[in-house]
Parts: sequence; C-alpha cells; structure tokens
Amino acid sequence: MNQEIHHFKSLTSTQDKSKQFAKKGERNIVIIADKQTKARGRFNRKWHSSKGGLWMSFLLKIENVSNLQFLTFSAAIAVVRAIKEIGKINTKIKWPNDVYFKGKKLCGILTEGVFGKENYVIVGVGLNVNQIKFPNSIKKNTTSLKTISNKNFDIKILSQIIVNEFYSLYNKYYLKGKYEKIVELWRKYCDTLNKEVVVKSKTKKIEGEAIDIDKEGNLLIKLKSKKIIKIIEGDIKLSYN
Ligand code: BTN
Repeated sequence: MNQEIHHFKSLTSTQDKSKQFAKKGERNIVIIADKQTKARGRFNRKWHSSKGGLWMSFLLKIENVSNLQFLTFSAAIAVVRAIKEIGKINTKIKWPNDVYFKGKKLCGILTEGVFGKENYVIVGVGLNVNQIKFPNSIKKNTTSLKTISNKNFDIKILSQIIVNEFYSLYNKYYLKGKYEKIVELWRKYCDTLNKEVVVKSKTKKIEGEAIDIDKEGNLLIKLKSKKIIKIIEGDIKLSYN
C-alpha cells in the first residue's frame, strides 16, 4: 500500500507538524524530517535528532483511547523487522517500546493521542541510522545502525520498509482488533522477559523478575516475596538488574 509521505528538511518536531496536519483534517499520512530542532521523547525529555537519523511520525485516525499501546508495539515490531531486512541486524525490544542492540538504544517511540472534538494519534519513531557522534549525555547508552555495521544506510528505503511493515500490522491486526496477534509478535522480539529488572517511578522503586506480558501489553513482575505486580506503561523507567 502506498502511504502518503510528507518529507521536510528541518522541523521543530515531526509530532508537532503532524498536529498541524491533523488540524486540517488529514489522517493516515507520514511525516519525515531530516533533522528536528525541538524533538521530544517520552516524559517530555529532549530527543537528540541531528541529520543522519530517521525521524518520522505516523498520523492516524483513532477510535478508542485504551488501545494505543498496540500501535506503539506495532511500530517497534516494524522497526525491528525493517532493520533485519535492510541490515541483517538482529535487534530486540525493551519493554515497552525501545529498540536495542547489545544493551544500547537504537530507537525510541513516542505515541501521543488527542481526544475530544478531533480524535487522532501520532506515533513518532526516532531511529539512529547514519550518525556516529552523540552528545555526552547519551553516548554511553546509544548506538546507530552505522556504528553497529560500519555502513551507511539509505534512509528513504529504510523509512519505506518501516512504513510498509507498520501499515501491514495496522491493517491486518490493529484495525481488526486482533491485539493478541500484535502482542504475540512483540513478545517474539522482546528481551525483557525472564530478566531481573528495576522499575522506577517518581515515587516508587520495584525490583523483581519480568515474568510475562499480559494481553493488554502490561509487564508482570515477580517480587522476591513471590507477589506479582502489574506494570502499566507510563511514567516509569525500566532497567536491567
Ligand atoms: C523515547 O523517549 O524513547 C521516544 C523518542 C521518540 C522520538 C521521535 S523522533 C520523531 C518524533 N518526533 C519527536 O519529536 N519525537 C518523535
């Protein structure tokens, strides 16, 4: 399926541009920028977006606020599959939605929904592709496809594969409410399960073993006391112990 892709040399954020398009009634389009000057990550953190990376947002129609996590999962699966196809590189998903290679972050996903008079959702994907230098604050835990393989990648081809993979999951499973299929695939690529993890929120710190993902995509953690706690995606930071 050919999705409409709008390409820009520079934007503050592909999320913001998507909102402008949404206000004009546009849906089912993709916004891509070569660089972003005011990009954001989850929890409003600054997101480093220099030239050489793939910075994209999917603007989608949404009916139901409670199912957004399956779009985030679909985007993560699409990224993992696209990287495998273009670079023969096996990456993993860290719950809920980061793509990692050997302990370093390659890609982050930010899903923002707007509900009310207008209903829409924007799934933003930030993937480090051809950059080799990162700011000191992130360089220890960050990598790019070029750093991994010593090769440059064609960002246009890569973005097209991600768009195709994402829309294939969206049409085949998301729109039909087959969320369990998305979770099943996501689980295949996820390496958080069976690991000792630390989950920190603003007020709490929980340590335990990540034992499962439920059908909503929540992470189940078994504490030392054997009690099982459900972690919902939100304002938390997960690290491996
Ligand atoms: C994270 O915190 O891990 C999510 C990062 C999401 C970054 C992407 S880049 C494209 C889109 N535009 C933004 O401003 N953010 C998202």
